[in-house]
Amino acid sequence: MLLAPSILSVDFLHLGEIIDLINRSEADWLHLDLMDGVFVPNLSFGFPVFKQIAKVSTKPMDIHLMIVEPQKFTKQIKDLGVHTMTVHYETCTHLHGTIMRIKESGMKACVALNPHTPVELLTDIIDELDMALIMSVNPGFGGQKFIPSAIDKVRRLKKMINQRNLKTLIEVDGGINIETGKLMLEAGADVLVVGNSVFKTKNPEEMLRQMKELSIKN
Ligand code: DX5
Ligand code: ZN
Repeated sequence: MLLAPSILSVDFLHLGEIIDLINRSEADWLHLDLMDGVFVPNLSFGFPVFKQIAKVSTKPMDIHLMIVEPQKFTKQIKDLGVHTMTVHYETCTHLHGTIMRIKESGMKACVALNPHTPVELLTDIIDELDMALIMSVNPGFGGQKFIPSAIDKVRRLKKMINQRNLKTLIEVDGGINIETGKLMLEAGADVLVVGNSVFKTKNPEEMLRQMKELSIKN
């Protein structure tokens, strides 16, 4: 079970310290949320900030692209040393081709699904995916309320993966805390993205430790 903290809700004036904290924490990956104000009604940060983060992060970077035409940035993202590139199902007309390009470039490929997008739509692409990301909030903002129907989506997706003997990981993102994280792990999730539940507490490092313990228990 892997833990992937998202820095979306941190104090960006102290970004360097936060990345250091994540580097020495029990987190497995660093989850980076890029937004374009078109696919989602918000902007986060772009390549100039991302580049600085990439220089100092010692954790594998898991980039979540909440942008239209994400395929345009595959090379730039690969060149920054990204481990896993996630594109949204809802933004890719030629999803198969995009996934192939991501994998050919040497990164792991992941497809994210908005809360209303059924997991069954992955039937003809799941064999090619290293990971699928189930959104448990509408993408665009940290600190939102967990949408419970995401639990059954994880269960259904896990079933599809197991029936085909695949190694595809399931990542969940949005409103994940100790309680919802446990439910998602029980449903079959492999990777938990955590934002507010960690960075809005007094001791984020300790919270990451507790979340990691949760994943070890499951
Ligand atoms: C939401 C982002 C998330 C977000 C999670 O659009 O994809 O990664 O930062 O934040 P929390 O855990 O606070 O919901
Ligand atoms: Zn995310």
